[in-house]
Amino acid sequence: MKSPVDITVPQEVIQKWQRIVNIMAEIMDVPAALIMKVELPYIKVFRSSKTRNNPYTVGAKEHLYGSGLYCEHVVKTKKKLSVPNALRDKHWDKNPDIKLGMISYLGFPLLWPDGEVFGTICALDSKENGHNKTYEELILQFKELIEAHLGLLHDRKHLDDLVGERTAELKKTNEQLLQAITERKQAQTQLIQLEKMNALDTLSAGIAHELNNPLMGMLNFVQYCIEKTSRDDRKYEVLKDTEDATQRCIDIVRNLLAFSRMGDKESYEKQSCGVLIDQVLKLISYRTEGVLIEHCISEDTPEILMKANGIRQVFLNLLTNALDAVENEEKKEIRIRERREGEYVRITIADTGCGIPPENTGKVLDPFFTTKGPKKGTGLGLSVSRTIVEGHGGMIRCKSEPGEGSEFTILLPIERGNRDE
Ligand SMILES: Nc1ncnc2c1ncn2[C@@H]1O[C@H](COP(=O)(O)OP(=O)(O)OP(=O)(O)O)[C@@H](O)[C@H]1O
Ligand SMILES: [Mg+2]
Repeated sequence: MKSPVDITVPQEVIQKWQRIVNIMAEIMDVPAALIMKVELPYIKVFRSSKTRNNPYTVGAKEHLYGSGLYCEHVVKTKKKLSVPNALRDKHWDKNPDIKLGMISYLGFPLLWPDGEVFGTICALDSKENGHNKTYEELILQFKELIEAHLGLLHDRKHLDDLVGERTAELKKTNEQLLQAITERKQAQTQLIQLEKMNALDTLSAGIAHELNNPLMGMLNFVQYCIEKTSRDDRKYEVLKDTEDATQRCIDIVRNLLAFSRMGDKESYEKQSCGVLIDQVLKLISYRTEGVLIEHCISEDTPEILMKANGIRQVFLNLLTNALDAVENEEKKEIRIRERREGEYVRITIADTGCGIPPENTGKVLDPFFTTKGPKKGTGLGLSVSRTIVEGHGGMIRCKSEPGEGSEFTILLPIERGNRDE
Protein backbone atom coordinates (compact mmCIF):
# COMPACT_ATOMS: atom_id res chain seq x y z
CA MET A 1 0.00 0.00 0.00
CA LYS A 2 1.05 3.58 -0.67
CA SER A 3 2.15 5.83 2.20
CA PRO A 4 -0.93 7.52 3.76
CA VAL A 5 0.71 10.85 2.88
CA ASP A 6 -0.43 10.17 -0.71
CA ILE A 7 -4.08 9.88 0.29
CA THR A 8 -6.17 12.84 -0.87
CA VAL A 9 -8.62 14.24 1.64
CA PRO A 10 -12.00 14.47 -0.10
CA GLN A 11 -13.99 17.67 -0.33
CA GLU A 12 -16.75 16.64 2.10
CA VAL A 13 -14.14 15.90 4.81
CA ILE A 14 -12.39 19.21 4.15
CA GLN A 15 -15.71 21.01 4.74
CA LYS A 16 -16.17 19.19 8.07
CA TRP A 17 -12.67 20.17 9.15
CA GLN A 18 -13.35 23.76 8.18
CA ARG A 19 -16.36 23.77 10.51
CA ILE A 20 -14.23 22.29 13.28
CA VAL A 21 -11.62 25.08 13.13
CA ASN A 22 -14.35 27.72 12.89
CA ILE A 23 -16.11 26.40 16.03
CA MET A 24 -12.78 25.94 17.82
CA ALA A 25 -11.75 29.58 17.25
CA GLU A 26 -15.18 30.83 18.23
CA ILE A 27 -15.46 28.85 21.48
CA MET A 28 -11.85 29.52 22.51
CA ASP A 29 -12.18 33.12 21.40
CA VAL A 30 -8.84 33.19 19.56
CA PRO A 31 -7.98 34.84 16.22
CA ALA A 32 -6.71 31.59 14.63
CA ALA A 33 -7.52 27.90 14.80
CA LEU A 34 -5.66 25.82 12.24
CA ILE A 35 -5.27 22.38 10.78
CA MET A 36 -1.77 22.13 9.37
CA LYS A 37 -0.64 19.43 6.93
CA VAL A 38 2.88 18.10 6.47
CA GLU A 39 3.88 18.05 2.79
CA LEU A 40 7.60 17.62 3.01
CA PRO A 41 9.74 19.62 2.91
CA TYR A 42 6.94 22.00 3.88
CA ILE A 43 4.17 22.33 6.39
CA LYS A 44 1.12 24.01 4.96
CA VAL A 45 -2.04 25.68 6.27
CA PHE A 46 -4.67 23.10 5.35
CA ARG A 47 -7.69 24.70 7.07
CA SER A 48 -7.81 28.10 8.78
CA SER A 49 -10.70 29.42 10.89
CA LYS A 50 -12.82 32.11 9.32
CA THR A 51 -12.19 34.62 12.11
CA ARG A 52 -11.34 38.28 12.25
CA ASN A 53 -7.63 39.17 12.39
CA ASN A 54 -6.60 35.66 11.41
CA PRO A 55 -3.24 36.13 9.61
CA TYR A 56 -3.12 32.54 8.25
CA THR A 57 -4.50 31.76 4.81
CA VAL A 58 -5.15 28.29 3.42
CA GLY A 59 -2.29 27.09 1.23
CA ALA A 60 0.41 29.25 2.89
CA LYS A 61 3.45 27.11 3.59
CA GLU A 62 6.78 27.15 5.40
CA HIS A 63 9.80 24.86 5.42
CA LEU A 64 9.05 22.40 8.18
CA TYR A 65 12.47 21.62 9.57
CA GLY A 66 14.65 24.37 10.99
CA SER A 67 11.81 26.88 10.81
CA GLY A 68 11.46 27.22 14.58
CA LEU A 69 7.68 27.01 14.21
CA TYR A 70 5.51 25.75 17.08
CA CYS A 71 4.17 23.11 14.71
CA GLU A 72 7.68 21.85 13.86
CA HIS A 73 8.08 20.92 17.51
CA VAL A 74 4.69 19.15 17.64
CA VAL A 75 5.45 17.16 14.44
CA LYS A 76 8.90 16.16 15.71
CA THR A 77 7.79 15.15 19.21
CA LYS A 78 4.29 13.93 18.25
CA LYS A 79 3.21 15.54 21.52
CA LYS A 80 1.04 18.40 22.71
CA LEU A 81 2.68 21.84 22.90
CA SER A 82 1.36 24.60 25.06
CA VAL A 83 3.05 28.00 25.01
CA PRO A 84 0.96 30.51 27.02
CA ASN A 85 3.21 33.47 26.19
CA ALA A 86 6.14 33.12 23.82
CA LEU A 87 7.49 36.56 24.67
CA ARG A 88 8.17 35.36 28.16
CA ASP A 89 9.54 31.99 27.15
CA LYS A 90 13.19 31.92 26.08
CA HIS A 91 12.58 28.83 23.96
CA TRP A 92 9.95 30.55 21.91
CA ASP A 93 10.61 34.28 22.02
CA LYS A 94 12.10 34.26 18.50
CA ASN A 95 9.68 31.99 16.72
CA PRO A 96 8.32 33.25 13.35
CA ASP A 97 4.66 33.43 14.45
CA ILE A 98 5.49 36.30 16.79
CA LYS A 99 5.98 38.46 13.66
CA LEU A 100 2.34 37.69 12.82
CA GLY A 101 1.37 38.79 16.31
CA MET A 102 0.72 35.27 17.58
CA ILE A 103 2.35 34.89 20.99
CA SER A 104 0.32 32.00 22.43
CA TYR A 105 0.05 28.47 21.04
CA LEU A 106 -1.78 25.27 21.94
CA GLY A 107 -1.40 22.41 19.50
CA PHE A 108 -1.65 18.63 19.11
CA PRO A 109 -0.30 16.28 16.46
CA LEU A 110 -2.74 14.66 13.99
CA LEU A 111 -1.72 11.10 13.26
CA TRP A 112 -2.58 8.51 10.61
CA PRO A 113 -3.57 5.09 12.02
CA ASP A 114 -0.01 3.79 11.39
CA GLY A 115 1.46 6.61 13.54
CA GLU A 116 2.72 8.71 10.65
CA VAL A 117 2.12 12.43 11.15
CA PHE A 118 -0.62 14.04 9.04
CA GLY A 119 -0.06 17.48 10.56
CA THR A 120 -1.29 19.43 13.56
CA ILE A 121 -4.40 21.02 15.02
CA CYS A 122 -3.72 24.20 16.90
CA ALA A 123 -5.08 27.45 18.31
CA LEU A 124 -3.06 30.67 18.24
CA ASP A 125 -3.70 33.79 20.23
CA SER A 126 -2.39 37.35 20.05
CA LYS A 127 -2.52 37.71 23.80
CA GLU A 128 -1.32 35.58 26.69
CA ASN A 129 -3.51 32.52 27.08
CA GLY A 130 -3.33 30.09 29.97
CA HIS A 131 -5.21 27.41 27.98
CA ASN A 132 -7.69 26.14 30.45
CA LYS A 133 -8.32 22.41 30.69
CA THR A 134 -11.77 22.54 29.04
CA TYR A 135 -10.35 24.11 25.86
CA GLU A 136 -7.56 21.57 25.85
CA GLU A 137 -10.19 18.81 26.16
CA LEU A 138 -12.14 20.42 23.29
CA ILE A 139 -9.12 20.35 20.96
CA LEU A 140 -8.40 16.77 21.97
CA GLN A 141 -11.97 15.80 21.02
CA PHE A 142 -11.53 17.50 17.63
CA LYS A 143 -8.17 15.77 17.23
CA GLU A 144 -9.82 12.38 17.83
CA LEU A 145 -12.58 13.18 15.36
CA ILE A 146 -10.10 14.18 12.66
CA GLU A 147 -7.99 11.10 13.34
CA ALA A 148 -11.15 8.96 13.02
CA HIS A 149 -11.66 10.57 9.58
CA LEU A 150 -8.03 9.82 8.72
CA GLY A 151 -8.59 6.21 9.84
CA LEU A 152 -11.60 5.89 7.53
CA LEU A 153 -9.69 7.41 4.61
CA HIS A 154 -6.83 5.04 5.31
CA ASP A 155 -9.15 2.00 5.38
CA ARG A 156 -10.91 3.11 2.22
CA LYS A 157 -7.60 3.49 0.44
CA HIS A 158 -6.57 0.07 1.68
CA LEU A 159 -9.83 -1.39 0.37
CA ASP A 160 -9.42 0.40 -2.98
CA ASP A 161 -5.91 -1.03 -3.25
CA LEU A 162 -7.20 -4.49 -2.39
CA VAL A 163 -9.97 -4.23 -4.95
CA GLY A 164 -7.37 -3.04 -7.49
CA GLU A 165 -5.13 -6.00 -6.70
CA ARG A 166 -8.00 -8.49 -6.88
CA THR A 167 -9.23 -6.96 -10.17
CA ALA A 168 -5.74 -7.32 -11.63
CA GLU A 169 -5.57 -10.94 -10.42
CA LEU A 170 -9.01 -11.62 -11.87
CA LYS A 171 -7.97 -10.07 -15.18
CA LYS A 172 -4.91 -12.31 -15.28
CA THR A 173 -6.94 -15.42 -14.48
CA ASN A 174 -9.42 -14.40 -17.15
CA GLU A 175 -6.64 -14.03 -19.72
CA GLN A 176 -5.23 -17.44 -18.74
CA LEU A 177 -8.69 -18.93 -19.11
CA LEU A 178 -9.13 -17.37 -22.55
CA GLN A 179 -5.74 -18.71 -23.56
CA ALA A 180 -6.74 -22.20 -22.37
CA ILE A 181 -10.01 -21.98 -24.31
CA THR A 182 -8.17 -20.90 -27.48
CA GLU A 183 -5.69 -23.76 -27.10
CA ARG A 184 -8.56 -26.19 -26.59
CA LYS A 185 -10.31 -24.91 -29.68
CA GLN A 186 -7.11 -25.34 -31.70
CA ALA A 187 -6.71 -28.87 -30.37
CA GLN A 188 -10.32 -29.60 -31.31
CA THR A 189 -9.78 -28.28 -34.84
CA GLN A 190 -6.73 -30.51 -35.19
CA LEU A 191 -8.72 -33.45 -33.89
CA ILE A 192 -11.52 -32.81 -36.38
CA GLN A 193 -8.93 -32.57 -39.17
CA LEU A 194 -7.46 -35.89 -38.03
CA GLU A 195 -10.91 -37.46 -37.95
CA LYS A 196 -11.57 -36.18 -41.47
CA MET A 197 -8.31 -37.66 -42.68
CA ASN A 198 -9.12 -40.99 -41.05
CA ALA A 199 -12.60 -41.02 -42.61
CA LEU A 200 -11.10 -40.17 -45.99
CA ASP A 201 -8.55 -42.93 -45.49
CA THR A 202 -11.23 -45.58 -44.95
CA LEU A 203 -13.42 -44.20 -47.72
CA SER A 204 -10.63 -44.03 -50.29
CA ALA A 205 -9.44 -47.52 -49.41
CA GLY A 206 -12.95 -48.87 -49.96
CA ILE A 207 -13.59 -47.02 -53.21
CA ALA A 208 -10.15 -47.73 -54.62
CA HIS A 209 -10.43 -51.41 -53.84
CA GLU A 210 -13.84 -51.68 -55.49
CA LEU A 211 -12.80 -49.69 -58.56
CA ASN A 212 -9.44 -51.24 -59.23
CA ASN A 213 -10.55 -54.47 -60.94
CA PRO A 214 -13.34 -53.07 -63.15
CA LEU A 215 -11.02 -50.26 -64.24
CA MET A 216 -8.28 -52.67 -65.23
CA GLY A 217 -10.91 -54.64 -67.14
CA MET A 218 -12.09 -51.47 -68.90
CA LEU A 219 -8.53 -50.52 -69.85
CA ASN A 220 -7.86 -53.94 -71.30
CA PHE A 221 -11.12 -53.85 -73.22
CA VAL A 222 -10.53 -50.35 -74.62
CA GLN A 223 -6.99 -51.25 -75.63
CA TYR A 224 -8.35 -54.38 -77.34
CA CYS A 225 -10.88 -52.23 -79.25
CA ILE A 226 -8.17 -49.74 -80.24
CA GLU A 227 -6.09 -52.56 -81.66
CA LYS A 228 -9.05 -53.71 -83.69
CA THR A 229 -9.94 -50.24 -84.99
CA SER A 230 -8.33 -48.55 -87.92
CA ARG A 231 -6.79 -45.08 -87.33
CA ASP A 232 -9.04 -43.66 -90.03
CA ASP A 233 -12.12 -44.83 -88.24
CA ARG A 234 -14.08 -42.03 -86.49
CA LYS A 235 -14.36 -44.27 -83.44
CA TYR A 236 -10.55 -44.44 -83.07
CA GLU A 237 -10.18 -40.97 -81.43
CA VAL A 238 -13.12 -41.65 -79.12
CA LEU A 239 -11.55 -44.92 -78.02
CA LYS A 240 -8.18 -43.17 -77.51
CA ASP A 241 -9.90 -40.56 -75.28
CA THR A 242 -11.59 -43.37 -73.38
CA GLU A 243 -8.21 -45.05 -72.88
CA ASP A 244 -6.72 -41.77 -71.52
CA ALA A 245 -9.65 -41.24 -69.21
CA THR A 246 -9.50 -44.84 -67.93
CA GLN A 247 -5.75 -44.57 -67.40
CA ARG A 248 -6.37 -41.42 -65.43
CA CYS A 249 -8.93 -43.20 -63.27
CA ILE A 250 -6.41 -45.98 -62.63
CA ASP A 251 -3.81 -43.38 -61.61
CA ILE A 252 -6.27 -41.84 -59.18
CA VAL A 253 -7.10 -45.23 -57.69
CA ARG A 254 -3.41 -46.09 -57.36
CA ASN A 255 -2.82 -42.80 -55.59
CA LEU A 256 -5.82 -43.37 -53.35
CA LEU A 257 -4.55 -46.81 -52.42
CA ALA A 258 -1.15 -45.41 -51.58
CA PHE A 259 -2.86 -42.66 -49.64
CA SER A 260 -4.82 -45.09 -47.52
CA ARG A 261 -1.73 -47.25 -47.07
CA MET A 262 -3.88 -50.27 -47.86
CA GLY A 263 -1.96 -51.20 -50.95
CA ASP A 264 1.36 -51.03 -49.20
CA LYS A 265 2.47 -54.29 -47.63
CA GLU A 266 6.11 -53.50 -48.13
CA SER A 267 8.67 -54.02 -45.38
CA TYR A 268 11.52 -51.79 -44.28
CA GLU A 269 14.98 -52.15 -45.79
CA LYS A 270 18.22 -50.15 -45.80
CA GLN A 271 18.32 -48.01 -48.90
CA SER A 272 20.06 -44.87 -50.13
CA CYS A 273 17.84 -41.95 -51.11
CA GLY A 274 20.40 -40.98 -53.76
CA VAL A 275 19.91 -44.30 -55.56
CA LEU A 276 16.11 -43.92 -55.49
CA ILE A 277 16.31 -40.36 -56.81
CA ASP A 278 18.55 -41.49 -59.69
CA GLN A 279 16.03 -44.21 -60.55
CA VAL A 280 13.21 -41.66 -60.59
CA LEU A 281 15.25 -39.23 -62.71
CA LYS A 282 15.75 -42.02 -65.27
CA LEU A 283 12.05 -42.79 -65.21
CA ILE A 284 11.11 -39.19 -65.98
CA SER A 285 14.04 -38.49 -68.30
CA TYR A 286 11.57 -38.05 -71.19
CA ARG A 287 10.49 -34.81 -69.48
CA THR A 288 13.83 -33.41 -68.31
CA GLU A 289 15.21 -32.16 -71.62
CA GLY A 290 16.13 -28.49 -71.37
CA VAL A 291 15.97 -28.62 -67.58
CA LEU A 292 19.16 -28.21 -65.54
CA ILE A 293 19.11 -30.89 -62.87
CA GLU A 294 21.71 -30.83 -60.14
CA HIS A 295 21.91 -33.71 -57.67
CA CYS A 296 24.38 -33.26 -54.78
CA ILE A 297 24.84 -35.85 -52.06
CA SER A 298 27.04 -35.04 -49.06
CA GLU A 299 29.61 -37.73 -48.41
CA ASP A 300 28.37 -38.51 -44.93
CA THR A 301 24.77 -39.21 -46.07
CA PRO A 302 23.92 -42.67 -44.74
CA GLU A 303 21.46 -45.23 -46.05
CA ILE A 304 18.20 -45.20 -44.17
CA LEU A 305 15.69 -47.80 -43.07
CA MET A 306 12.69 -47.31 -45.36
CA LYS A 307 9.98 -48.75 -47.55
CA ALA A 308 11.74 -48.05 -50.82
CA ASN A 309 8.67 -48.14 -53.07
CA GLY A 310 6.92 -45.58 -50.93
CA ILE A 311 9.88 -43.23 -50.73
CA ARG A 312 10.47 -43.63 -54.49
CA GLN A 313 6.91 -42.50 -55.03
CA VAL A 314 7.54 -39.45 -52.84
CA PHE A 315 10.53 -38.42 -54.97
CA LEU A 316 8.52 -39.09 -58.12
CA ASN A 317 5.71 -36.83 -56.92
CA LEU A 318 8.05 -34.02 -55.85
CA LEU A 319 10.14 -34.14 -59.03
CA THR A 320 7.04 -34.30 -61.24
CA ASN A 321 5.68 -31.24 -59.47
CA ALA A 322 9.02 -29.45 -59.92
CA LEU A 323 9.02 -30.28 -63.64
CA ASP A 324 5.42 -29.04 -63.95
CA ALA A 325 6.43 -25.82 -62.16
CA VAL A 326 9.40 -25.01 -64.43
CA GLU A 327 7.58 -26.05 -67.62
CA ASN A 328 6.60 -22.55 -68.70
CA GLU A 329 9.49 -20.71 -67.07
CA GLU A 330 12.51 -19.35 -68.87
CA LYS A 331 14.90 -20.55 -66.17
CA LYS A 332 14.36 -24.28 -65.76
CA GLU A 333 16.49 -25.54 -62.86
CA ILE A 334 15.95 -28.24 -60.25
CA ARG A 335 18.44 -28.71 -57.42
CA ILE A 336 18.40 -31.80 -55.23
CA ARG A 337 20.50 -31.87 -52.05
CA GLU A 338 20.99 -34.65 -49.58
CA ARG A 339 22.86 -34.54 -46.29
CA ARG A 340 22.85 -35.97 -42.83
CA GLU A 341 21.31 -33.88 -40.07
CA GLY A 342 21.78 -35.57 -36.72
CA GLU A 343 19.60 -38.67 -36.64
CA TYR A 344 17.93 -37.66 -39.92
CA VAL A 345 18.68 -37.37 -43.61
CA ARG A 346 17.56 -34.08 -45.09
CA ILE A 347 16.56 -34.02 -48.76
CA THR A 348 15.69 -30.72 -50.41
CA ILE A 349 14.23 -30.37 -53.88
CA ALA A 350 14.31 -26.76 -55.05
CA ASP A 351 13.05 -25.50 -58.38
CA THR A 352 13.05 -22.20 -60.23
CA GLY A 353 9.40 -22.67 -61.17
CA CYS A 354 6.29 -20.56 -60.84
CA GLY A 355 6.24 -20.79 -57.03
CA ILE A 356 3.24 -21.10 -54.73
CA PRO A 357 1.19 -18.07 -53.66
CA PRO A 358 1.24 -17.57 -49.85
CA GLU A 359 -2.50 -18.32 -49.57
CA ASN A 360 -1.84 -21.81 -51.02
CA THR A 361 1.29 -22.89 -49.12
CA GLY A 362 -0.83 -24.20 -46.25
CA LYS A 363 -3.06 -26.19 -48.62
CA VAL A 364 -0.69 -27.92 -51.05
CA LEU A 365 -0.28 -30.92 -48.75
CA ASP A 366 -4.06 -31.37 -48.42
CA PRO A 367 -5.70 -34.16 -50.43
CA PHE A 368 -7.33 -33.09 -53.69
CA PHE A 369 -5.76 -29.63 -53.69
CA THR A 370 -4.58 -28.89 -57.20
CA THR A 371 -4.10 -25.85 -59.40
CA LYS A 372 -3.41 -27.93 -62.50
CA GLY A 373 -6.91 -28.22 -63.82
CA PRO A 374 -9.10 -31.31 -64.00
CA LYS A 375 -7.20 -32.95 -66.86
CA LYS A 376 -3.69 -32.72 -65.41
CA GLY A 377 -3.61 -33.14 -61.67
CA THR A 378 -5.49 -35.18 -59.09
CA GLY A 379 -4.16 -33.10 -56.17
CA LEU A 380 -3.12 -36.26 -54.36
CA GLY A 381 0.64 -36.30 -55.09
CA LEU A 382 1.74 -34.26 -52.08
CA SER A 383 -0.80 -35.61 -49.61
CA VAL A 384 0.23 -39.16 -50.52
CA SER A 385 3.85 -38.11 -50.10
CA ARG A 386 3.12 -36.65 -46.71
CA THR A 387 1.36 -39.83 -45.57
CA ILE A 388 4.34 -41.93 -46.69
CA VAL A 389 6.94 -39.63 -45.10
CA GLU A 390 5.03 -39.33 -41.83
CA GLY A 391 4.54 -43.11 -41.85
CA HIS A 392 8.35 -43.29 -41.76
CA GLY A 393 8.43 -40.96 -38.74
CA GLY A 394 9.66 -38.11 -40.92
CA MET A 395 8.28 -34.76 -42.03
CA ILE A 396 7.79 -32.77 -45.19
CA ARG A 397 7.89 -28.98 -45.42
CA CYS A 398 7.32 -26.50 -48.21
CA LYS A 399 8.78 -23.04 -48.68
CA SER A 400 8.01 -20.89 -51.68
CA GLU A 401 8.24 -17.40 -53.17
CA PRO A 402 5.86 -16.82 -56.08
CA GLY A 403 7.95 -16.10 -59.18
CA GLU A 404 11.14 -17.31 -57.46
CA GLY A 405 10.47 -21.03 -57.14
CA SER A 406 9.71 -23.57 -54.44
CA GLU A 407 11.69 -25.71 -52.07
CA PHE A 408 10.40 -28.93 -50.57
CA THR A 409 12.30 -30.41 -47.65
CA ILE A 410 11.98 -33.95 -46.40
CA LEU A 411 13.47 -35.17 -43.14
CA LEU A 412 13.66 -38.93 -42.79
CA PRO A 413 14.94 -40.68 -39.66
CA ILE A 414 17.93 -42.92 -40.32
CA GLU A 415 16.99 -45.64 -37.82
CA ARG A 416 13.33 -45.46 -37.09
CA GLY A 417 12.59 -49.15 -36.59
CA ASN A 418 9.29 -50.58 -37.82
CA ARG A 419 7.13 -48.43 -35.64
CA ASP A 420 3.82 -48.90 -37.43
CA GLU A 421 4.16 -52.65 -37.93
N1 LIG B 1 7.18 -27.40 -57.02
C1 LIG B 1 6.00 -26.78 -57.08
N2 LIG B 1 5.93 -25.52 -57.59
C2 LIG B 1 4.74 -24.86 -57.63
N3 LIG B 1 3.57 -25.37 -57.19
C3 LIG B 1 3.59 -26.62 -56.68
C4 LIG B 1 4.78 -27.38 -56.57
N4 LIG B 1 4.49 -28.55 -56.00
C5 LIG B 1 3.15 -28.53 -55.76
N5 LIG B 1 2.62 -27.39 -56.17
C6 LIG B 1 1.22 -26.98 -56.03
O1 LIG B 1 0.58 -27.87 -55.16
C7 LIG B 1 -0.55 -28.45 -55.79
C8 LIG B 1 -0.72 -29.86 -55.24
O2 LIG B 1 0.33 -30.69 -55.64
P1 LIG B 1 0.08 -32.23 -55.70
O3 LIG B 1 1.32 -32.87 -56.16
O4 LIG B 1 -0.51 -32.69 -54.41
O5 LIG B 1 -1.07 -32.35 -56.78
P2 LIG B 1 -0.96 -32.08 -58.33
O6 LIG B 1 0.46 -32.04 -58.76
O7 LIG B 1 -1.81 -30.91 -58.66
O8 LIG B 1 -1.66 -33.37 -58.88
P3 LIG B 1 -1.06 -34.88 -58.91
O9 LIG B 1 0.29 -34.82 -58.27
O10 LIG B 1 -2.00 -35.66 -58.07
O11 LIG B 1 -1.04 -35.25 -60.29
C9 LIG B 1 -0.23 -28.37 -57.23
O12 LIG B 1 -1.42 -28.38 -58.03
C10 LIG B 1 0.48 -27.04 -57.34
O13 LIG B 1 -0.44 -25.97 -57.33
MG1 LIG C 1 1.81 -33.56 -58.15
